[in-house]
Amino acid sequence: MQASISEIRLHKEGVHRKRRKRVRIPTVSAEQNRILAIIGQGYVGLPLAMAAVDAGWTVIGIDNFEAKVAQINSGKSPIEDISDTQLQRALASGAYRASADYTSVAKASVITICVPTPLDEKREPDLSLLQGAATAIAPFVSNETLVVSESTSYPGTLRDIIVPIVDSLKPRATTRVYFASAPERVNPGDPIWSQKNTPRLVGAIDRKSQERALAFYESICDTAVAVSTPEIAEAAKLLENTFRLVNIALVNEFAQLCAASGINVHEVIDAASSKPYGFMPFRPGVGVGGHCIPVDPLYLTWWARQNGGRAIFVESADSVNHAMPKYVAERALSMVNANIKNPKVLILGVAYKPGVGDVRETPVSELRDHLKLKGADIAWHDPLVQAWEDSSPVDLDWDCDVAILATKQPGMNLEQLINRGVQILDCTNSLKGQADISSL
Ligand SMILES: NC(=O)c1ccc[n+]([C@@H]2O[C@H](COP(=O)([O-])OP(=O)(O)OC[C@H]3O[C@@H](n4cnc5c(N)ncnc54)[C@H](O)[C@@H]3O)[C@@H](O)[C@H]2O)c1
Repeated sequence: MQASISEIRLHKEGVHRKRRKRVRIPTVSAEQNRILAIIGQGYVGLPLAMAAVDAGWTVIGIDNFEAKVAQINSGKSPIEDISDTQLQRALASGAYRASADYTSVAKASVITICVPTPLDEKREPDLSLLQGAATAIAPFVSNETLVVSESTSYPGTLRDIIVPIVDSLKPRATTRVYFASAPERVNPGDPIWSQKNTPRLVGAIDRKSQERALAFYESICDTAVAVSTPEIAEAAKLLENTFRLVNIALVNEFAQLCAASGINVHEVIDAASSKPYGFMPFRPGVGVGGHCIPVDPLYLTWWARQNGGRAIFVESADSVNHAMPKYVAERALSMVNANIKNPKVLILGVAYKPGVGDVRETPVSELRDHLKLKGADIAWHDPLVQAWEDSSPVDLDWDCDVAILATKQPGMNLEQLINRGVQILDCTNSLKGQADISSL
């Protein structure tokens, strides 16, 4: 089953051709040192780097985006979860630096790959960045190095894509490389769950690899959970995020049914939450966004199709969530006097979730498109986003006919809007019991 996926991908990406290419560099045995190279210094890689520094590792954070490398080395963190102070402390200690130079991975005993795994234009897995990272590190992997993929992907990615690339391009002197998959579970903006206290799944290609991977993650995380294969770890990650996608879709659909009957869906969810077992509350919203929930389940649906199956339930959940921005646009416009031809709509919060400035896959883009189609004049406000799709934010005193609270950001003071009597469609359940506020 996995072999067929592998063959398709390897053939497509021309990896067979690359196998003949060998690079000679002097390598050392990486068995003893505590030097970690992390490929990708984003929402996953940078927090991992800081956690590893705290655990006593020396970390080289490699990123192919040179401007980001320069920013990090200047002590300015590109992500909300890592403060400038924490980053500056790590840099000053000499235990961390960012680099765009792959040759430095030759010093590492552990290399973790934390690069994006997005969708392509057909909304199918795009592993080009992952393959690019594996290809770039391979010539510099020292003997006895552990290579771990933390990127989210479909089952078989480590064994069928990463291992063949590294094995085919590694230096001649490197006779033994260990491989594992340990999908990252970080939840950006979460004040409770971090790299350290979130249990880490670890699945490796053989016993020695598993021992090394567990020892590595046990040095950084409170708990490492051993699973029997990398495919189990990869599939578990897809299941976790698909679980969220389908439950959000369920509650988004349910919210529409409740609204049509004049029932407050949040009161229903609160009521159902009083059941002490078998129920977990999810809240409706504008849709799903970010690099995980809208993307990872489509890795699952693609993987299902490659294996001759269909993940119909997941596809259906994806459709329900994608229909939400249109529903929200229509609800908001129904609050405006029908005589106004081009209503002015203020969107509050464009990031995909509170506490982050991340606008990747934000459902607010589709919301804005639907509002525009209906002739609305749109502006937006988000204290954590300075620019979005070539436009700038406005202040909260922007004169509007209706406001849509899409993402309730910290530092967003809505009192002045409420005091002005602006009608607000609250998609976040954070403005309860106020006049002029409609809840999703
Ligand atoms: N963001 C999350 O909440 C989250 C949570 C869990 C898992 N993940 C998964 O982790 C992976 C990384 O996601 P992220 O959110 O950290 O992405 P990100 O975009 O925040 O960071 C990735 C970094 O990798 C760099 N990069 C891309 N290709 C590279 C290459 N070939 N060599 C070196 N650097 C390269 C980019 O410049 C970028 O700085 C993805 O597979 C994602 O699905 C993300």
